[in-house]
Amino acid sequence: MTKWPRSLFSLLLAAFALTAHAAPDAATALSIVQKNNCVSCHAVDSQVVGPAYREIAKKYRGDATAPDTLFTKVRKGGAFVWGEVPMPANPGISDADLHTVIAWILAGAPDH
Ligand code: HEC
Repeated sequence: MTKWPRSLFSLLLAAFALTAHAAPDAATALSIVQKNNCVSCHAVDSQVVGPAYREIAKKYRGDATAPDTLFTKVRKGGAFVWGEVPMPANPGISDADLHTVIAWILAGAPDH
C-alpha cells in the first residue's frame, strides 16, 4: 500500500466539513416556513394542499436547475406539476429566506 489512502481520507474529511457547513439549518428553515404560512399547505412528509417537501426533494434529486426553477415557482405561484391545484404567488417571503427554504427542501427537508 502506498500513502494515498491517507490523503484520500483527509480529502473526504474536508469534503464532509464543507458539506456539513453548507447544509441548510433545519431550525431556521422550519421557522421560515411557519412565518410565511407555507405550513398551511405543505408538510415535511405528507401531502396537504401541496406536495410533501420530501416528495419534492425526491422529484428534483440531481436536477441542477431545480433551485432556480423552484425559487421562481414559489415566488410567482403556478400549477400542473403535481396536479391541478395551483400554488398562489408568495410575494412576502424575502429572497434570502426563500433561498434558504428551497435549499433545505432540496436537501430532503431534514428535521435537524
Ligand atoms: C395555498 C396553498 C400553498 C401555499 C401557502 C404554499 N404552497 Fe407550495 N405548493 C402548493 C401547491 C398546490 C403546489 C403544487 C403546484 C403544482 O402542481 O405545480 C405547491 C408546490 C410547491 C413546490 C414544488 C413546485 C414544483 O413546481 O414542483 C415548492 C418547492 C413549494 N410549493 C414550496 C412552498 C413554499 C416555500 C411556500 C411558502 C413560501 C409555499 N410553497 C406555500 C400550495 C401552496
